[in-house]
Order: sequence, then structure tokens, then C-alpha cells
Amino acid sequence: MSAREVTTTSVGIVGGGPAGLMLSHLLARRGIDSVVVDHRSRDEIEQTVRAGILEADSVRLLSETGVSERVLSEGDRHGGTYLAFGGELHHIDFQELAGASVWLYPQTEVFVDLADARAAAGADVRFGVGDTSVHDVTGERPSIRFTDADGSAHEIRCRYLVGADGSHSLCRHAIPPSEIRQYRKEYPFAWFGILCEAPKSAPELIYNHSDRGFALISQRTETTQRMYFQCDPDEDVDAWSDDRIWSELQARVGANGHELTEGPITGKSVLRFRSNVVEPMRYGNMVLAGDAAHTVPPTGAKGLNLALADVRVLAETLERALTDRDDDALDEYSRRALDRVWRSQHFSYWMTSMLHRPLAADEFDLRRQVAELHSVVRSTAGKTYLAEAYTGWPSG
Ligand code: PHB
Repeated sequence: MSAREVTTTSVGIVGGGPAGLMLSHLLARRGIDSVVVDHRSRDEIEQTVRAGILEADSVRLLSETGVSERVLSEGDRHGGTYLAFGGELHHIDFQELAGASVWLYPQTEVFVDLADARAAAGADVRFGVGDTSVHDVTGERPSIRFTDADGSAHEIRCRYLVGADGSHSLCRHAIPPSEIRQYRKEYPFAWFGILCEAPKSAPELIYNHSDRGFALISQRTETTQRMYFQCDPDEDVDAWSDDRIWSELQARVGANGHELTEGPITGKSVLRFRSNVVEPMRYGNMVLAGDAAHTVPPTGAKGLNLALADVRVLAETLERALTDRDDDALDEYSRRALDRVWRSQHFSYWMTSMLHRPLAADEFDLRRQVAELHSVVRSTAGKTYLAEAYTGWPSG
């Protein structure tokens, strides 16, 4: 058996998505070395279609730390959003209510910018590794073991280990269940997502309530659009022709007086979702960040933003832990991150439950939802809460 090739670093990061790469970037700016490993290839990550909305602070983090100029030049600034219900479109003006905007800039582009920036900096990022496992996470020298594409064995020995490895996180699964608590909420519906070749159907996003169920009208570029409609979690993608999809989407937005510009559909998929939170986000000398620690339903677009907010706090905490030799600084990371995580859980749950047709809904349920939506848009306090939550609470 050949020996393992050992690399020593300060922080070993499992997961080369936006959370892992941004953490590695922020650590490097603090003079802290790290190694990132991911079982997926760079191409595979680039081809995954994810959400598209960045909070103002996420945009600042990308632009001001030198990861991306494109987010400002190619991203689309949205000063508000539409809620459609009760037969009408209602505009929520983020600028007026919260003094902030969001940016439509797909997660794939965030990943490309980060991967390019890490490559340009000569960072140690290893995509496409196999057989990953973590060891000695409660000890002084935790490690990550894996094999590379040639089948050679490697080991990354580090001071701290970070699981930024998504909702199926192997790092989270390495924690004894008795050491953490998991809070979960399942939803009886999913989203049917499409990409289509068509001009924009609206200048900003439309979150659309209707008796037939929720729909979301989003965008990607001037010529490519992203839309979703609420469906059954077991919905069969192949049962939906382009015509059937368009007639369902048109019926849902048509109930509120809007019409979509149609075009050829180039991608279809069903996205299941649930809420999940792990507490604490630390076990020994390992911490979890992003989807590895928490997932939110997509209504409200908090997933990527939460991951970026996590690693902003984590970079600061890891520096303190390493400089002061103080492992307990990691507890503070968990505490600070969870405060935002739970507020985002509430916001995402609230948006989801207010806008989706409940299972076995009756007339009362649907009328009550419309009244709830009216209560929000007719109250400055209500609209301001939505605008503040959507654009993102200040980091503190
Ligand atoms: C998207 O554009 O994919 C998107 C936007 C807003 C959401 C979820 C998804 O709340």
C-alpha cells in the first residue's frame, strides 16, 4: 500500500462551493492558509442551476474583497419586488423602505468568480476528489483524507476543520447524534423550475399567490428567464409539455392581471425543499457553515446569502481562535451565526406559508392568505419588515 501524501495547513475545508471558497478567500486576506477539497469537479458545480438573488451585504462582500467586479457590472440591481395576489400586482420598494437593493446575479456566477479568484491567487483547491473522510475532529490535529483522480491517497492535517459541504454534508454526519440537535420542517410541496429563452416578463421578481398555487417569475439575462410554480414533491417532470407548463404559469399570474412572454423551455426540474437547522454549528475543532448546517426553503432566496454571512463571521472567529489559541472562540461563531440563521428560517417559512397553497386548502385558507398579504402591503411596518428581511439584516 502506498503512503498517504500529507499536507499541513491551518484550516481544512470540505466543500468547494461558494461558502468554502469564500471562506478560503477571506482567510487568505487575514494571512491564514487553508486547503479546500470537493468531490465534485469544477464543471459539475458550474452546471448546477441554483438561486439568483444576492443581498446588499453579499454583493459588498464579493466586490469589496476583490472577488468580483462582474457582480456590479453584469448583475441586475433590483430596488424592489412584486407581490401578486387578490387580482393585482403590489410593488414593495426596498430602497424607500429599507434604503437597500438586492442584485440578481446567479449563484453559478458567484461560484465562477470565486473559483477564478482562488485559482489566480494560487490557492490550494482540489476538485473531483474521492473517498473523502474526516478524522480526529475533537483532537488537536483534525484531518481530511481523500483520494485524487489518479487514486493516490492524501491527507490534509489542520488545526481547524470546516464542513462547508452542502445539505448532505459528510462532516455533519461525522458528528455523534447525541452531540447536536437538529430542527427540521418538511413542506408538502415543491417547486417546478424552468429556464426559458424569452425576454423578461417583468422588470423585477414577481412572487405570485393564486388559488392554483404559488408561482415565482424570476430572470437570468435579457434573453433567458427563470420561473417556478408550486407542485407536488413527486411531480413527474416528463408529464409537463411546454404548452402545459405555459398554460399553468399563465393561469397563475393571469389571476392577478399579469401575462408572461413565452419562449422555448430549455430546462425543467423539480426542487424539493425543507427547513433544517443544526445546533450548535460546532463539534470539537470542526465547524459547519452554509447548507451543511442549515437549509431554508427557496422562497425569499436566503440560502446562498446565509452561507456567505456564516463565513464572514467564521473567518473572523478562526483568526481569533488561531491567534489566541482559543478553541472556544468557535462557540461564538455558532452563537452569532445561529442568530441570523433563525431569523432567516422564520422569514423563509413565513414567505413560504403565506404564498403557497396549503395541502387540502379550502376557501377559508386562501382568503386568509390574501388578507395576510393585504395586511403586509397596506402597512408601512409590514412592508418594511419584508424589505429589511429580503435585502438582509446588517451584519453585526
Ligand atoms: C431564482 O432566481 O432562482 C430565485 C429568485 C428568488 C427566490 C428563489 C429563486 O426566492
